[in-house]
Amino acid sequence: MSTKTIAVLISGNGSNLQALIDQAGEQAYRVSGVVCNRPSAFGLQRAARAGIPSTIIEHGAFPDRAAFDAALLAAIERFQADFIVLAGFMRILGPAFIRARPGAILNIHPSLLPGYPGMHTHRRVLAAGDSEHGISVHFVNEELDGGPIIARSRIIVGEEDSEESLAGRVRRLEHHLYPKVVGWLAAGRLQLRGNAVFLDHVKLPATGMEHPAPAGA
Ligand code: GAR
Repeated sequence: MSTKTIAVLISGNGSNLQALIDQAGEQAYRVSGVVCNRPSAFGLQRAARAGIPSTIIEHGAFPDRAAFDAALLAAIERFQADFIVLAGFMRILGPAFIRARPGAILNIHPSLLPGYPGMHTHRRVLAAGDSEHGISVHFVNEELDGGPIIARSRIIVGEEDSEESLAGRVRRLEHHLYPKVVGWLAAGRLQLRGNAVFLDHVKLPATGMEHPAPAGA
């Protein structure tokens, strides 16, 4: 099977980038480049350590979203990336960007979407008293954390859980699931048709497939 290339877009720590790099050997993709909108992001050091080229595109340097998006797309083009993988990239992408790469852009989000799009998901789950929390991987559309869902993994929220403990537990789910889903896309197993997601030619429910949490999560 041929290996596909991915560009990973980050804004910060890059622990999901690290998981994608570390597990690439088990999947049909390789990371051909990293694009980051914050010069101080630790993820840039992770890319350098792995010998992966990166580029910084600061959103503040552009007059509007369209110009920023065009610069992002040009960088991705330079990395000759088949797919675009958002990993903690904290900017909304404009319609021109999304339409340029239909069915080829993924995002991971720390909640069981469609619940809790946006920020501070662990805090909001605790405040609501929810008994479950989790993560979602989805195709990106023009809504914030709103595109068709591919897969979710969940954990039970314990009495003793805090925002910090949930952050750690959720991160373990993310590092377990995201490289697999990217691998499915790279292997041609995953398709977006309209708003419907197909895995191995089977249409998934609107909430995606349930992926088991790793042991001990
Ligand atoms: C991850 O938890 C990811 O799900 C979240 O940012 C974090 C990045 O961590 N993304 C979003 O909230 C997108 N709406 P990382 O930089 O360590 O990979």
